[in-house]
Amino acid sequence: MLNVEKIREDFPILETGVIYLDSTATSLTPKQVLREVEKYYLEYRANVGRGIYELAERATSAYEAARKRIASFINAIKGEVVMVKNTTEAINLVAHSLKWRKGDKIVTTLLEHHSNYLPWLRCAERYGVKVEAIKPTPQGMIEVDDLEKTVDDSTKLVAMTHVSNVLGSITPVEEAARIAHEHGALLLIDGAQSVPHIKVDVAKLGCDFLAFSGHKMCGPTGSGALYISREAWEELDPVFVGGGTVESVEEGRFTLLKGPARFEAGTPGIAEAIGLKRAVEYLDALNMDHVVRHERRLGERMYEGLCSMEGVEVYGPEPKYKLGITSFNVEGLDPHEVALILDASAKIAVRSGMHCAQPLIKQVLKKPKGTVRASLYIYNTKEEVEKFLSAMEELTRSALKRK
Ligand SMILES: Cc1ncc(COP(=O)(O)O)c(C=O)c1O
Repeated sequence: MLNVEKIREDFPILETGVIYLDSTATSLTPKQVLREVEKYYLEYRANVGRGIYELAERATSAYEAARKRIASFINAIKGEVVMVKNTTEAINLVAHSLKWRKGDKIVTTLLEHHSNYLPWLRCAERYGVKVEAIKPTPQGMIEVDDLEKTVDDSTKLVAMTHVSNVLGSITPVEEAARIAHEHGALLLIDGAQSVPHIKVDVAKLGCDFLAFSGHKMCGPTGSGALYISREAWEELDPVFVGGGTVESVEEGRFTLLKGPARFEAGTPGIAEAIGLKRAVEYLDALNMDHVVRHERRLGERMYEGLCSMEGVEVYGPEPKYKLGITSFNVEGLDPHEVALILDASAKIAVRSGMHCAQPLIKQVLKKPKGTVRASLYIYNTKEEVEKFLSAMEELTRSALKRK
């Protein structure tokens, strides 16, 4: 069980009285992470992988220790993890570093965040590859059968989210890995909404790429990571090159480094990586099994509470098929109006609109104005969920009266 009251002491922003139900967009940051970032700036600020003086050595070893610890959080090894600034950058890095051949197929889904869809459309424009998107069920589930039917021998990459940022639904990633590999394709998992909430083990999933963002898991903004399997390594030619990526340079030619630094052109987010290391230590100390259990318990209450309200339409699968993200609409109100009322009446922060997932919202859910989304994390309490439900009761009562 999480000791939520104790956890809340680590997040001073909660003293403002906000009920923060938007951790899917970005999480709050604990003091421990901020202290670690501050320590770098105040005590050993220097560039990494360049200087040989003491400060530079200290910064380099802290940065590399961060890579190692972040890798172990997903059961990878240090040499398999590239530091990036977010999930979007990680996915674009893969999109433009893979050695495409005309006619290669990319299989993705209509469940995706734009960051795991637009890069593939761009690949189609630039490299002559084909993109096929599997339609989820109306509840936002991806059927294994559809993966079996769509992935074929011309598929070079299957790219799908692990958890939907709109509905919280969990996709069959292990089956996707099996199917992709049966056809000689690679699997990229968008872990932006899974790595912060559940134990993700790349060896167990069998994926070739896993992209995630530090800012959604208590880390600093501008931090994130991309796992690349040994098999996939050979398939990539880094899209960015420059300082920090090379072993040697002669006039007119260069040889890239062998390790992950070959993908990290220019000065990386040093403080960001160091902060993310502290964030994964923080989460590990809480225990990811306890994290997910806590979110699911609160998510179930939120889902059931909303489902029982007259005038509220709730989207997505039943709680057992998802994590603590709930999307809904209130009859007669625009999603942005609901968000503004919740903010003004009860200081509740929820997201409203398209959630960067327009294909899902417009084509699958058929909600042209989007949805309201409430999402949970380690610092949310039962009392907050009850306050949210009371505020929603009041809001729907007045919406129904106005009808
Ligand atoms: C599933 C999913 N993928 C990708 C992203 C993009 O993350 P970032 O903005 O950190 O690059 C998000 C952000 O909400 C997301 O939820």
